[in-house]
Amino acid sequence: MLPIRRLAAVVRRTGVRLASGVPERDVRFATVQDADLRFFESVLGQGGVVTDPHELAPFNKDWMGKYQGASRVALKPRSTEQVSALLRHCNERRLAVVPQGGNTGLVGGSVPVHDEVVVSTAAMNQVLSFDAVSGTLTAQAGCILESLDNHVAEHGYCMPLELGAKGSCHIGGNVATNAGGLRLLHYGSLHGSVLGLEAVLADGRVLDLLSTLRKDNTGYDLKQLFIGSEGSLGLITAVAIHCPPRPLSVNVSYLAVPSFEVAQQVFVRAKRDLGEVLSAFEFLDRESLLITLRNLPGAKDPLPACQAPFYLVVETSGSNAAHDGEKLERFLEDVMGEGLVIDGVLAQDGTQARQMWHIREGITEALRHRGAIYKYDVSMPIHAMYQLVEDMRERLASAFPQQAAAVGPPPSEDSGGSGSGSSSSSRDGPPIRVAGYGHLGDGNLHLNISAPAYDEALRHQIEPFVYEWTAQHRGSVSAEHGLGLMKAGCIGYSKPPAAIQLMRQIKAALDPKGIMNPYKVLPPPE
Ligand code: FAD
Ligand code: MLT
Ligand code: ZN
Repeated sequence: MLPIRRLAAVVRRTGVRLASGVPERDVRFATVQDADLRFFESVLGQGGVVTDPHELAPFNKDWMGKYQGASRVALKPRSTEQVSALLRHCNERRLAVVPQGGNTGLVGGSVPVHDEVVVSTAAMNQVLSFDAVSGTLTAQAGCILESLDNHVAEHGYCMPLELGAKGSCHIGGNVATNAGGLRLLHYGSLHGSVLGLEAVLADGRVLDLLSTLRKDNTGYDLKQLFIGSEGSLGLITAVAIHCPPRPLSVNVSYLAVPSFEVAQQVFVRAKRDLGEVLSAFEFLDRESLLITLRNLPGAKDPLPACQAPFYLVVETSGSNAAHDGEKLERFLEDVMGEGLVIDGVLAQDGTQARQMWHIREGITEALRHRGAIYKYDVSMPIHAMYQLVEDMRERLASAFPQQAAAVGPPPSEDSGGSGSGSSSSSRDGPPIRVAGYGHLGDGNLHLNISAPAYDEALRHQIEPFVYEWTAQHRGSVSAEHGLGLMKAGCIGYSKPPAAIQLMRQIKAALDPKGIMNPYKVLPPPE
């Protein structure tokens, strides 16, 4: 643990400002003029320049409805050359730019803060090549993750990442956020599977790093800088990615465990007994389950007779159904025989497997249906993870005794219907609810506080407490969603001043006028 006094010193040195309201507009940026719009049209044609307020609205609002920009134009280039011409012009004019992919980001990174020009990759949706021997896919940045997965499936491969937003998020956005997702445990991070990329820098220069080589040790690996840079260093226009063979045999089980401590023991057993075929180890608490059953259309409780505090989704992916099935059954017999798992169910077909995943993947959407969400995406040693959820519950219950409960729902609480999709009602628990779920196998907790509406008094109870707690446990305040606007002031909780200083220098070298996604990622200069 980092002592509070040292933590406070770190925060002072790095100039962390608390993730408060919207930063003021930087007056050094120009505003879009009619002459700019004419230039954009000369590059893209009329169809590529969106100015109609109705069409523009979705580009200005994020997925959660939490962040709202006021851009007067969104641009939809189709080629790298067009992106280059647009950025060169914006840089010369000092117009701020926000790159946007599928706009499924959860930290306010993908929408303008003020009037930045939105450059969307929606029209850059061509697969450029696929090598069926090596499994290397090269695609434009705007290809939708699920479409790419369908494309490579025809050749017996799959994408090395999977997330609930796969039907909307773009591969460029995935790389820009270094998205983790549900199978990172199996396929590793994008820092390993992205083989190359092409990016356009702020001044329009095209950086062609679109290598498809597995091995290349010539100089610094510059592509790594763009993986997770959240649009602040340049616009990624194409990606080359290594795809693993599509598993021939997939098994999914849904297990109930009596405590988070036992969930960890089951994880250790799963790694040992399932070995190389273990492909996902996810957890959700009972609060997440209840919220999902009530608010997610089509959600069905896989274990309706069992009311446990924690549930696990354990998946195997391999190439031999008999071998994998045998391993999984033996593992399940053992953990159930020893009383580690209270109850469990093994999907008998694809429909049942999808129902189990629908619960886990659907928590995000279910929470959105309930109203405002304060989302925190932290990583830390696994043993400490759930304590944060419990501490947050206690803290909010003492601050708002009429609206929040100090402990999770009692086991007897009825799950209250299945997937009605209805919004909050008096039967939907207390107004403020604290839910914990995530990628247990990766030490990644998603702490979510659900409330009827966004409220500053509530936020001040949560922040900076959540960041300080995480730093004291040597965790990261962003495991996979990024910093965006939400946490632009918070990097100092997870990185030392020397690293932040170096990041500023890299940003200044690549984007001297600071036009790429301003107000995001790094704290404002002191
Ligand atoms: P956007 O939201 O459009 O942009 C995200 C950031 O990347 C912004 O800062 C933007 O400026 C930048 N950006 C986008 N495209 C480019 C580009 N071509 N070049 C440079 N910068 C760019 N995330 C996870 O990590 N794991 C999950 O399991 C997960 N599950 C999710 C489930 C749901 C239901 C939802 C709504 C979101 C989930 N997310 C998850 C968050 C989000 O989907 C990911 O961050 C995703 O990678 C964002 O992709 P996008 O195309 O929507 O990017
Ligand atoms: C997830 O794991 O479900 C995603 O990261 C989204 C979320 O945190 O809600
Ligand atoms: Zn996640």
